[in-house]
Amino acid sequence: MLYLTRRERFNAAHRMYHPEWTDDKNLEVFGKCSNPNWHGHNYNLFVTVKGEPHPETSLVVNLKELSRVIREKVVEPLDHRNMNLEVDFMEGKIASTENLAMAIWEVLEKEVQVLGVKLHCIRIEETENNIVEYYGEINHGNY
Ligand code: NI
Repeated sequence: MLYLTRRERFNAAHRMYHPEWTDDKNLEVFGKCSNPNWHGHNYNLFVTVKGEPHPETSLVVNLKELSRVIREKVVEPLDHRNMNLEVDFMEGKIASTENLAMAIWEVLEKEVQVLGVKLHCIRIEETENNIVEYYGEINHGNY
C-alpha cells in the first residue's frame, strides 16, 4: 500500500461564530477569529490517498486527475470566498478548520474512489502553527 499526497492552496474568509451566543461569548471562546467583520487565512490543503501501484505504470493514481478533482470540488468553491456565507458544503456549520476538514472529506471520499484509490487523510494548515488532520473516523452526524 502506498500513500500519495497532493497539496492545493486557497484563501478564504471566515468568522468563528456560534449563532446562539453573544459577540462577547464568541470572542471569549473563539478569540480573534470571531471578529464580526471577517478575516481570512491562506490555507494549505493536503489530500492523502492510498492504493496499490498499477502493474504497468507503477502509479497509484494520476496526480493530474487527483488535482483536477480537488480543485473542481473543493478549491474552486472555497477560493476567495467567505466560507460562512457562500460555500455550500459549509452551510449551517461553524467555520472551523475541524469542520472544514470533515466537510472536505465528505466531498472527496467518493470522488477519489472513482480514480481507484481510497481517501486516507485530509490535512489543513490554517496557519503555520494551526493544523488539523482528519482520517474519517468521526460519525459525520455529530457536527
Ligand atoms: Ni480564523
